[in-house]
Amino acid sequence: MRVLVITGAGVSAESGIPTFRGKDGYWRSLDPAKLATPEAFARDPKLVWEWYRERRQRIRNAQPNAGHIAIAKLSQRADNFLLVTQNVDDLHARAGLPKEKMVQIHGDIFITRCSRCDFSFSERNEEQQQIPRCAKCALLMRPGVVWFGEQLPWNELHRVENYLDRGSCDLVIVAGTTATFGYIIDWALRASRDGGELIEVNPEETPLSQFATQLVREPAAIALPRIVDALLISRLSEL
Ligand code: OAD
Repeated sequence: MRVLVITGAGVSAESGIPTFRGKDGYWRSLDPAKLATPEAFARDPKLVWEWYRERRQRIRNAQPNAGHIAIAKLSQRADNFLLVTQNVDDLHARAGLPKEKMVQIHGDIFITRCSRCDFSFSERNEEQQQIPRCAKCALLMRPGVVWFGEQLPWNELHRVENYLDRGSCDLVIVAGTTATFGYIIDWALRASRDGGELIEVNPEETPLSQFATQLVREPAAIALPRIVDALLISRLSEL
């Protein structure tokens, strides 16, 4: 049983983390898609840091929901499992998903890293107040996330490609993402290429919907526990 799960912001929505493109995503009437850019950081690093610090605090105060827990449960039972999440929060990890079974393809919001060199540290528990400067090269430091127009992190990309190259999947679940980025659709299709089930969990239609073998138009925290339980009870060995 090889399983690939791909998640996006919708999976953390029911933990109280606003999605990017939803109506709650706006912050001080600013569009996150314009804040999460190298240009916005170059223009106003203080503003961008304020946004990320608020998001960090919201995530620290949040709890994993039933969707995160269902995915962690599935990861324990499938022989060969990988979660690729676009989420930069730590809710999948806090639900019990081990690091080696998860790729955070858009980075980790709690990492603070230098804009130029490889110096970085974690602010998972505590937050600095000023804009941090690199201890090695004195440049401004930034959140360890991927911004619009930036390359995906090489190591993480390599882990996804490796997993896909090792064979196709029996089951692919794509939950809570608008699937805006071509690579998300590409990975889902490559993984399910040999007749694997492709389940989309999303209340809304997305560009991936047309390729799904099952569409579940429900919130992730409701749909995922039911799907995982059904798989584990009756169908896991048949898939
Ligand atoms: P979006 O904010 O684009 O989309 C959230 C998706 O979740 C939408 O398709 C919603 O219909 C769906 N959704 C909302 N509530 C849901 C729920 N309770 N259960 C299931 N689905 C729900 O978020 P992403 O697709 O994750 O990247 O966005 C992808 C990337 O774009 C982000 O990682 C970020 C952003 O720019 C970067 O910053 C590079």
